[in-house]
Amino acid sequence: MTKSNEVLIFDTTLRDGEQSPGATMTHDEKLEIAEMLDDMGVDIIEAGFPIASEGDFQAVSEIAKLAKSATICGLSRANYKDIDRCWEAVKHAKSPRIHTFIGTSPLHRAIPNLDMDEMAERIHDTVTHARNLCDNVQWSPMDATRTEWDYLCRVVEIAIKAGATTINIPDTVGYTAPVESADLIRNLIATVPGADDAIFATHCHNDLGMATANSLAAVEGGARQIECTINGLGERAGNTALEEVVMALKVRGDIMPYTTKIDTRKIMNISRRVATVSGFAVQFNKAIVGKNAFAHESGIHQDGMLKNRETFEVMKPEDVGLAGTSLPLGKHSGRAALRAKLNELGFDLADNQLNDVFVRFKDLADRKKEVFDDDLMALVTQNDAEDDRLKLKSLRVICGTDGPQKADMVMEVDGSEVETSATGDGPVDATFNAVKAIFPHGAGLQLYQVSAVTEGTDAQATVSVRMEEDGRIATGQSADTDTVVASAKAYINALNRLLVRREQSEPGYDVKGVSYKDA
Ligand code: KIV
Ligand code: ZN
Repeated sequence: MTKSNEVLIFDTTLRDGEQSPGATMTHDEKLEIAEMLDDMGVDIIEAGFPIASEGDFQAVSEIAKLAKSATICGLSRANYKDIDRCWEAVKHAKSPRIHTFIGTSPLHRAIPNLDMDEMAERIHDTVTHARNLCDNVQWSPMDATRTEWDYLCRVVEIAIKAGATTINIPDTVGYTAPVESADLIRNLIATVPGADDAIFATHCHNDLGMATANSLAAVEGGARQIECTINGLGERAGNTALEEVVMALKVRGDIMPYTTKIDTRKIMNISRRVATVSGFAVQFNKAIVGKNAFAHESGIHQDGMLKNRETFEVMKPEDVGLAGTSLPLGKHSGRAALRAKLNELGFDLADNQLNDVFVRFKDLADRKKEVFDDDLMALVTQNDAEDDRLKLKSLRVICGTDGPQKADMVMEVDGSEVETSATGDGPVDATFNAVKAIFPHGAGLQLYQVSAVTEGTDAQATVSVRMEEDGRIATGQSADTDTVVASAKAYINALNRLLVRREQSEPGYDVKGVSYKDA
């Protein structure tokens, strides 16, 4: 395969990202993120793991139907049942791909208890099976970076001969380093017969903080597909961050002459949306998308920036979709100004959605002199849905130094109002106890996180809440100038989503004890 300088971007936010504990997204959220990925120019979207659950299967099928230009890929283990299910989901896409994998390192070979020859045979059979269904097949030797190099060459050759069109080399545990990452890909391309018939991909995890560097090094070694997620979402320390590799290639094209199709101006919006729906806030000093990535606080920096912005900036905020600092809105701003501002921020709302946001905006502007871009983002990205079973009607909390704190709450439960009072160790605890008294449930609180949207004592607080019940996880978010109100709404939001999951949930497909050839 001729090595062009174009690097394909394979986004796995909806599979490897969503797989990270607590990052589960709803069906609609997955569809929305997929549309945003497609729209920003991602080449391949790994939309999920179809055999994992009916929900995953439905999400992958629908994303396959709606994708306009991206290739839609589903993940499958190395058995026929997984692969068939994956094909059933992706086959609707204009450009479908089956991704099948098996762990090839000594530690991973021990799990299915296969020796090297047995594993090689299984790779041959499963890739052949996938290729008989679909022309576009990706194969991954999981934990490739801890697999013996000669064995890796052997199985990569088998996969290519069996019809794999992309060979992905995962650094599953974030163990490799840039020099090794480049060498490994270079060595595979140089030594595996038929390597030219496939595209080599790199898939890095960030356990040692080297995922971006390792991915770029792999490109230097000959890889032409980078697997990544928005905000670096993913298990443990996450995956390679899409925004980092894409902007590194764009800014340092002088020494890394590779291109991607990504419209980088769409980065900020999708980053914010993924942070909201996953409940994984972006750290302030995160490269490219962190709140401080383009902030210049110190006097020396500000002085330099005013004289020439390049003094302390290697890229323009507009390049990643950060609107230039325009004036905040206030309580006299009308619907047209709000719509214009939201368009500038990348939101194209239908009239009824705009009406809802306008009501919330007026309410906020009454309480807060200036409504900044970040305030608006928080308003637009509230997660409440019309058909939520639980709604907060009113909340009054009595606080004091001699506790316990007391929360008087009215909630609507399935259309009827219920009132209660509860005490707790602090205002938030009292509030959550009130919700529990009104709507008893066994869900555990896994995460409670508060952050200020803007500066000042009248700033809105964004609260994220993650809850777990019988292995099902849901995240809720809300923003309000009153931290306790935001907390109550986020908690209720998480509960609503958990209730939806409770209704929808069904066991995943169990392939244990099934021969890998059983369909
Ligand atoms: O990290 C990994 O090895 C994976 C594979 C399934 C590709 O995510
Ligand atoms: Zn991974």
